[in-house]
Amino acid sequence: MINRKQLITKYVEFFKRKRHKEIPNVSLVPENDPTVLFTTAGMHPLVPYLIGQPHPLGRRLCNAQKCIRTQDIEEVGDTTHHTFFEMLGKWSLGDYWKKEAIQLTFDFHTKVLNIPIERYAVSVFKGDKNASKDTESAKIWESIGISKERIAFLPKSENWWGPAGKKGPCGPSTEMFYWKPNNIKPPKKFDPNNENWVEIGNDVLMEYNKDKKGNYNPAKQKNIDFGGGVERTTTILNGLEDDYLGDTFKPIIEKIEKLSGKKYGKDKGQTRAMRIIADHIKASVFIIADGITPSNTEQGYVLRRLIRRAIMYGKELGITESNSKIAEFVFKIYDDYKHLQKNKKKILEEIRNEEEKFDKVLTKGTHVAAKIFNKKIISGEKFSKLMQSDKKEEILKKVFRNKKGKKDYSIKEFNISKKDIDNATITGKEAFYLYQSFGYPLELIIELARSRLLLIDFEGYMEEFEKHRTLSRTASVGRFKSGLADASEQTTRLHTATHLLLEALRTVLKDKNILQKGSNITPERLRLDFSFPRKLTEKELKEVEDLVNAQIQKSCEVSREEMSPEQARKKGALGVFDEKYGEKVSVYTISEFSKEICAGPHVKNVCELGHFKIKKEESSSAGVRRIKAVLE
Ligand code: ALA
Repeated sequence: MINRKQLITKYVEFFKRKRHKEIPNVSLVPENDPTVLFTTAGMHPLVPYLIGQPHPLGRRLCNAQKCIRTQDIEEVGDTTHHTFFEMLGKWSLGDYWKKEAIQLTFDFHTKVLNIPIERYAVSVFKGDKNASKDTESAKIWESIGISKERIAFLPKSENWWGPAGKKGPCGPSTEMFYWKPNNIKPPKKFDPNNENWVEIGNDVLMEYNKDKKGNYNPAKQKNIDFGGGVERTTTILNGLEDDYLGDTFKPIIEKIEKLSGKKYGKDKGQTRAMRIIADHIKASVFIIADGITPSNTEQGYVLRRLIRRAIMYGKELGITESNSKIAEFVFKIYDDYKHLQKNKKKILEEIRNEEEKFDKVLTKGTHVAAKIFNKKIISGEKFSKLMQSDKKEEILKKVFRNKKGKKDYSIKEFNISKKDIDNATITGKEAFYLYQSFGYPLELIIELARSRLLLIDFEGYMEEFEKHRTLSRTASVGRFKSGLADASEQTTRLHTATHLLLEALRTVLKDKNILQKGSNITPERLRLDFSFPRKLTEKELKEVEDLVNAQIQKSCEVSREEMSPEQARKKGALGVFDEKYGEKVSVYTISEFSKEICAGPHVKNVCELGHFKIKKEESSSAGVRRIKAVLE
């Protein structure tokens, strides 16, 4: 048996021996990356280095990175999808290319993890009108002993990665698969559609740069970006069928079993509910640990949804105690994450607070919900009666089939008219009203409807949802997708402006204790949170603005140096001096004015910034102020 800690140690040690430097496992909330809400892959913090900036630790890097992927929320509940997971990563930033990348991955899999070659297969890119067939990778695989039959050529949908936005680095990938069953002999030929073959890793061969016009041009710097899931790898190596039976989930599941009095694996619906609770609580603990609290926007909204879904499914299982009891086990499994242990009290408190809030929401809505449901129970009596018969499944199938594209979805053989069905259906408007005005999640509405033998008009609900979705929400949904940061000129300019702003605040307010507490940049604006105890006056804001603009006028170069965090501190560079820095850091200097530790990217000369304008100054939290500003 191999557990997550052993796998990570083996992985990192192997790549260190192969002259890779370990980079820090960074926050789940990406700094200065407006295209994503969460770190969804190990490559996120490396964006500037993938597009050419030299990395302080060199060209060969590796680590295990904690990640959150929210596009899978609906799929969580099966044996393999997770909101939180850890990703093994290795990178070549313009250093080695396909041959060495493939050899390294293969050696790790077969020599370190001892996967027998009989159980190993790979896929490579098939080629299309934009990029050629990756025969080079296929030849490399053959040369190290993978038979032709075990190499599948697959299209872009399977063997291609990026760019996430409209343009940027991207390329074909080559994926590695493991034959899972112990009791079935692996077939000679690899069939990617056979589910016994499970993907265990993925080398992205970043050799193209997609431009604005959609052309795939050869990239100036060719990179390797490997990713492999920790949970999946340990599960299959341990011969398990289900990630939730592995060491990163089992203790959580056992606690859920205890609290609910239900047995995992016995009932399909209950097992699914247990997985959702375990997944969501684990993800919530990690998200709160990185400084997010439940709210109605962006990361806070995702967190709120995770906690509330976990509560919902808990209710379904009959759990009456707080989910913080389940969360306790996340701290035990991940005791190597010091920031979790340090913030344990606060994390558990946040979970309990959100539970209380949700309870209030539910109570507030009970009246209205009861009214809506009771009306339907009465008007939909005829249909509900049929729902109690043993024909229920058959009738439901017919309703859904008939509804598809048909105006009249009555079921003649049961003497049920369209009106009878509508009378027993919660409309999209009603469901959305419960959601929007009382915070009832869809899962809860479904549950209430199901237990009362009623139907819900999902399509109508989605239509309402789309209609009411605010602009900011639209933006954040777009950002759930993984991808390269928008390293566009606009965000780069705003990033440099943030450095000038921070120093201008320290100068104008004559307070050298002012430090950056957070930063968020979109192509439209910058947002800087900084430590300061009171509201700024109009006069001070004007002075800060003027000082930034005066610096821009000076047309100074922005220079970058690499050094140890200790040297950087000695030189007076601003930074957050905590464990997140690696052995070496980049320090950006703007003439005599500003010196900060930062990953970049930045403009070459501040004259590129144009005119700086503060749009808003407000409180962010106790002792922290927030400024939003733009470049015109
Ligand atoms: N970035 C690649 C992935 O997410 C490795 O799979």
